[in-house]
Amino acid sequence: MSAATFPGVAGQAPGAAPLDGRVVLVAGAHGGLGQAASLACARAGARLVLLGRRIPKLNRLLDAIEREGGEAVLYPLDLEGAGPDDYAELARRIESGYGRLDGLMHCAAEFRGLTPLEHTDPAAFARAIHVGLTARWWLTQACLPLLRRGADASVVFVVDAADATSGAYWGGYGIAQSGLHAMVRMLHAELAGTAVRISGLQPGPMRTPLLARAYVEGDRAGACEPERYAGACVTLLSAAGAARRGQIWRPGPDVGGIALPMLAAQ
Ligand SMILES: NC(=O)c1ccc[n+]([C@@H]2O[C@H](COP(=O)([O-])OP(=O)(O)OC[C@H]3O[C@@H](n4cnc5c(N)ncnc54)[C@H](OP(=O)(O)O)[C@@H]3O)[C@@H](O)[C@H]2O)c1
Repeated sequence: MSAATFPGVAGQAPGAAPLDGRVVLVAGAHGGLGQAASLACARAGARLVLLGRRIPKLNRLLDAIEREGGEAVLYPLDLEGAGPDDYAELARRIESGYGRLDGLMHCAAEFRGLTPLEHTDPAAFARAIHVGLTARWWLTQACLPLLRRGADASVVFVVDAADATSGAYWGGYGIAQSGLHAMVRMLHAELAGTAVRISGLQPGPMRTPLLARAYVEGDRAGACEPERYAGACVTLLSAAGAARRGQIWRPGPDVGGIALPMLAAQ
């Protein structure tokens, strides 16, 4: 595992952007929604830690954020091979770099296509459950001590529809979704009295590589660009997300997004 060096603690930026002063970790940052959410969070004032497994894609995202005057560091990591020690190391680096963590957004998911369970490769089944469910929990667990330190922290699990993805052929990805819905409920109940808010975000169909592996082009006609859910991601990570604490939020596209200040052009 290689990782970028974190910059020193920066002072809070002036202004009233919804994520001003917050440090947000995005897992699956170079995916369709991950990318849109990361850009929106940077515009909303967050300092970002971008976790993904492909360094060139992470670098392109970093360039886009920095071009707009945003601030981010890269954390290359493959969730398939990472273990609890790797997540503990990530949390330690965030602590030493920033001294805080205010948001954790889970956008990574492993889905290779619709297949009958009976014909699913055993390793592919395990990979989908691991990346989609276990790795999300291991990462969350490692970050909780740091998240608990602030006055208001938010963990957002991006999920798919549990009813639809527990139907035929959704395999390990679908089973992981049912587990994620349970995880949001369980973790919310356990952390109800703390500063750490748990919520789920269930977007509608979005034109991303994941959707392309599930449906043929004609069936994707109603899907929208992931950018249309970026405002909802910012909302859940900001103080306004307190209203959605413990919920799986299913906004329509462009619904619930909060107005984002534009960053000065560089
Ligand atoms: N698209 C939809 O219609 C839709 C609908 C409802 C919910 N969702 C949810 O939205 C979230 C984002 O999905 P998306 O549509 O944006 O899909 P996506 O574009 O395929 O993004 C998924 C991301 O997860 C990353 N990933 C997969 N395995 C990984 C691993 N082992 N280590 C690190 N990263 C890994 C992928 O990396 P690579 O680029 O390297 O593969 C990719 O960046 C998911 O939670 C999904 O369940 C999507």
